[in-house]
Amino acid sequence: MTESSAARKTDPAEGFSEESMPDGVNIIDVTKKFVTRERTVQALKPVNLHIRDKEFVSILGTSGCGKSTLLRMLGGFDRPSTGHIYFHGEEITRPNADIGMVFQSYTLFPWLTVEENIAFGLRQMKKHPPAEIREIVSRYVDLVGLRGFEKQYPKSLSGGMKQRVAIARALATDPGMLLLDEPFGALDMQTRGVMQELLLNVWQSSPKTIVMVTHDIDEAIFLADRVVVMSARPGSIKEIVDIDLERPRDYHVRNTEKFVNYRAHCSDIIRSESMKLIQEVG
Ligand SMILES: Nc1ncnc2c1ncn2[C@@H]1O[C@H](COP(=O)(O)OP(=O)(O)OP(=O)(O)O)[C@@H](O)[C@H]1O
Ligand SMILES: [Mg+2]
Repeated sequence: MTESSAARKTDPAEGFSEESMPDGVNIIDVTKKFVTRERTVQALKPVNLHIRDKEFVSILGTSGCGKSTLLRMLGGFDRPSTGHIYFHGEEITRPNADIGMVFQSYTLFPWLTVEENIAFGLRQMKKHPPAEIREIVSRYVDLVGLRGFEKQYPKSLSGGMKQRVAIARALATDPGMLLLDEPFGALDMQTRGVMQELLLNVWQSSPKTIVMVTHDIDEAIFLADRVVVMSARPGSIKEIVDIDLERPRDYHVRNTEKFVNYRAHCSDIIRSESMKLIQEVG
């Protein structure tokens, strides 16, 4: 199949072609192979997925199955080996201001203070006057609980605090799509719960498409409209679980029968994928 015919190919799961592409994100026949001097890694088998505009999707999968790889390509930080990714009909080929990303590892600018880091994207946009930038930054400093640390540099922050600055920086520009790679991994249980509810509040008050990678099954279900469970490496979509839980949600929903069933179902898939990996290595 030629590159252009691949681009026009209809996704059998969704029944659309490039000409009649629905809004939101369209991932069409995306694969990724890393070739280094030492080895070649097929990180992703063909992935096809449509994410609706303003949908919240969580991605779960065993370590090394290609979650970060897929997210980086959604953010335009890496290109697929084959296939195409579109956001509102435009192919994603490089990072752009309408896509905010929080990386798995801390990626703050060490030479900028907390408030300068949060203001960074806003300044790049050249859309807001300085007073408005100060006001937005101040709001996000409060939202992520970093009042009193605005003038600190990243080196003097804990891992969890750095991650909260990264989240504030990504939210401050109010992007149309937010990509989060294990954003709460470094946080304690309490702060994690607060940040999850904060994220839901932000998403409800300023709706946007959110794709979040997490290892935490409860977190994935609690936040998302759909949970995409990936197969072990090379990654592909194993199953998509629709989360039919009322919104707004609060943490009590985790004790409901429906939630418990979703948790058991997702755990079973992840467990069977992890077993495959272990058997392969064995
Ligand atoms: N830049 C790179 N060069 C070579 N191989 C890479 C590169 N980035 C990722 N890989 C490989 O691709 C595979 C998928 O990696 P990826 O980081 O996407 O996994 P992941 O699902 O995010 O894992 P984790 O849950 O541990 O974060 C791994 O085998 C990894 O070694
Ligand atoms: Mg990762």
